[in-house]
Amino acid sequence: MSHKRQLHLGLFLFSTGYHPAGWRLPEAVTDGAFDPQFLYRVAAKLEEAKFDFFFLGDRLATSVDEQYTFPSQMVRMEPFTMLSYLAAITKKIGLIVTVNTTYAEPYHVARMTASLDHLSGGRLAWNVVTGADTRAALNFSREKHWDNAKRYDYADEFVGVVKELWDTWEDDVFLRNKETGEYVDKSKVHTINHVGDQFSIAGPLNVARPPQGQIPLLSAGTSERSQELGAQFSTAIFTGEIVLEEAKKFYAGIKGKLSKYGRQPEELFIMPGLVPLVGRTEEEARAKYVELSQLLVTDFNVTSLSNRLGLDLTGYPLDGPLPDLSLSGLPIDKVKSLVGLAQRASGHEDITVRELFYYFAATARGHLLVVGDPEQVADQIEEWFVEEAADGFNICPPYMYDGLDLFVDLVVPVLQRRGLFRTEYEGSTFREHFGLSRPNNRFTNNATALQGAVH
Ligand SMILES: Cc1cc2nc3c(=O)[nH]c(=O)nc-3n(C[C@H](O)[C@H](O)[C@H](O)COP(=O)(O)O)c2cc1C
Repeated sequence: MSHKRQLHLGLFLFSTGYHPAGWRLPEAVTDGAFDPQFLYRVAAKLEEAKFDFFFLGDRLATSVDEQYTFPSQMVRMEPFTMLSYLAAITKKIGLIVTVNTTYAEPYHVARMTASLDHLSGGRLAWNVVTGADTRAALNFSREKHWDNAKRYDYADEFVGVVKELWDTWEDDVFLRNKETGEYVDKSKVHTINHVGDQFSIAGPLNVARPPQGQIPLLSAGTSERSQELGAQFSTAIFTGEIVLEEAKKFYAGIKGKLSKYGRQPEELFIMPGLVPLVGRTEEEARAKYVELSQLLVTDFNVTSLSNRLGLDLTGYPLDGPLPDLSLSGLPIDKVKSLVGLAQRASGHEDITVRELFYYFAATARGHLLVVGDPEQVADQIEEWFVEEAADGFNICPPYMYDGLDLFVDLVVPVLQRRGLFRTEYEGSTFREHFGLSRPNNRFTNNATALQGAVH
């Protein structure tokens, strides 16, 4: 396996595209959310491109108000179910399931993830979230979503227990001896007898150790507690960074926490989201960007944009110039960087308030939108990679299918030509795609643990 630092690419699935108006383009697919053929088509394209993973997010509440901003998050299928199907129709690509620990039980999650790792031949990873959506409480017989501290106290213990449960059957436990009738070696099956602040769980799990031994974890929270959880346990951290300098700080900050947990910087991958709006030419990409912008359903309320820029835009004509940026309450470099993103996407400096609004409406959920021809998009990816702002990207196509196809057909070959991205899969498991070894079982040859063996 090559040791040169390589870019990692995954798909963050939005069946109607990441751009709020993506599905309204004449050529866009609108009904992928419940269509197995859609998943099949997308997965085949990703494996053709040798993507590292197919990532499914999840929330536990919804509202019809999201139809103008995020229809594919408003209504969609359950991720374990989708991934069982994807495991059967794909061969190499990693599969990421999102599980919200706040509303789950460790024993259930250990079983489901271990089962899916078996079904996929070791291609599963688990995105650990504690819940971005406070409304979930109302769907789980609770009055309130827990606060950050409670959610992460619960998540920390949750993750620790699941990891132990995965190890409760040693790799060589199965004898299946037809002569003696012994199916397993009982000294290699372990209880955990966990008693903590949140859970009391005896074990063992009733699923064999997952093919990867330990299923890789990912995390995506922004809070300090989430970053600690990520530094301790995660193989990758998903983030939403749009300004290069801030992304570099985030990257260095997380990598700096790893030594505390006895880990090396190359054991954790930082993966911001990227929304590539690719054209065969720059003009084609910009024309598509304008077309998408004009399809937004919006009343041009500038309140949240004003807050984001520290600059009150109320009262400025939509088709007039931007106000003086030095009026912002934020550091001028930061405001210039943010406005610069909209200028770059629009292809000119003298953008109007409306053009500024369009850019931030398209990226309201926090990921970087890049508009350009294949070389320009590859340049931005390479810049972030080389500057150590990212180890790879969670690709969020702005619309389907072309938003994905243009990236795969035109940008991936540029990245491959530049030696940044693989041309073939070198391994078959999620761990292997990220160059990670398979961990030993904590109970194997461990005298203390053997005392917990089931008799
Ligand atoms: C790229 C990305 C993807 C995320 N996906 C989900 C998701 O699918 N479900 C969810 O509840 N939260 C998701 N989140 C949010 C968080 O993981 C986290 O649980 C939430 O922000 C609350 O934790 P915090 O207070 O630490 O931020 C995502 C965040 C990012 C950056």
